[in-house]
Amino acid sequence: MKTIHIRIKGTGEKSTVVCRKRAFEEGIPKYLSETKKRAFVFTDDNVYRLYKRRIAEVFGEARIHVMPAGEKYKTTDTLFALIDAMARERLHRGDALIALGGGVVGDIGGLAAALYMRGISCVQVPTTLLAQVDSSVGGKTAVDFAGVKNLVGVIRQPELALADPTFFETLPPREIDCGLGEIVKHGALDGELFDLLWDNRNFLTDLDFLSEIVPKNIAFKADIVSKDPHENSLRKCLNLGHTTGHALELYDGTLSHGEYVLIGSIYEARLAARLLKESDKAYLDRFEQLARSVLQADPAAFDIGGAAEKARLDKKNVSENGIVVTAPLKRGEYALLELPYDDYVRELLTIREGL
Ligand code: NAD
Ligand code: GLY
Repeated sequence: MKTIHIRIKGTGEKSTVVCRKRAFEEGIPKYLSETKKRAFVFTDDNVYRLYKRRIAEVFGEARIHVMPAGEKYKTTDTLFALIDAMARERLHRGDALIALGGGVVGDIGGLAAALYMRGISCVQVPTTLLAQVDSSVGGKTAVDFAGVKNLVGVIRQPELALADPTFFETLPPREIDCGLGEIVKHGALDGELFDLLWDNRNFLTDLDFLSEIVPKNIAFKADIVSKDPHENSLRKCLNLGHTTGHALELYDGTLSHGEYVLIGSIYEARLAARLLKESDKAYLDRFEQLARSVLQADPAAFDIGGAAEKARLDKKNVSENGIVVTAPLKRGEYALLELPYDDYVRELLTIREGL
């Protein structure tokens, strides 16, 4: 078992992440008996179908609200349907919302818990690899709005997250690859993690390897979040690959988030190799090989010029016409690059030609 604590200086906010097999069965009853809270479960229809029995074993007659699965439902309508269900169940501040699912459920559930009665407790039970290593940790919550990913949201730490690797047993291979997208991104930021991934590049999807690597990823992210919870500086590194990845995700929408992060990382690694003379080309080449080893799609197969327009609304941008990219640079190092929009588009098109 590994328990990781996030403590936010200044606000006193605390969050605990427990990583172990059956953390769901052990952690929920312990939390509910220690806090005397009543649970309200939020999940999606895939997870509910797969885990109905486990949910019943843990919660008994659970009060539950189920959303349709998928990013296209990460909307204000789904958010307010959940809040409506919470109100109809007369939840109060002594209750806790349990977000049981992938990153979509976690992001919407976390936002509903933050908004309802100006804030009730939230427990994250991430059931995808991506949600365990990334979205359930660090308190970012959101829904998509007006054609922009995660436009409406807040940063608020969950009280508890339970990262239970037994949920991976039902994950389709493609969802494992999606989670590996965020893991490879962490590898671009942490040299030891990169070495571990590179050395095990032929076994990345092995469930035992994933169980070993999940707590390392969580500890890495938890450390960054503790230092910069509101993304004023250091936390921006976690957006590596995301400027181009999010733009493609909004424009194209046929793949999933982790896959777009991998594609974005490949483009942004090449941007760094082309534009930053201090970049380590041999390392960036290995980084691209690692990213391609878990990506089934061809990064050149997308209309990158069309998608680039979507990067104009990226939340990292600080000027009207500038696009900000967090790019890998060398082992364990990254760079924040700001490019005029026209240069960004021209570079992406040139990179695509050479992929
Ligand atoms: P997802 O929540 O859509 O889950 C992917 C699919 O897997 C869904 O169909 C879901 O029903 C299914 N699923 C979930 N658990 C399963 C299981 N154990 N077995 C079988 N199927 C299962 O997608 P995701 O990849 O988990 O998360 C992507 C979302 O996370 C995006 O909206 C992204 O913006 C967000 N995200 C947020 C943060 C953050 O910091 N808050 C970080 C990264 C990504
Ligand atoms: N997924 C990026 C972050 O949490 O900051």
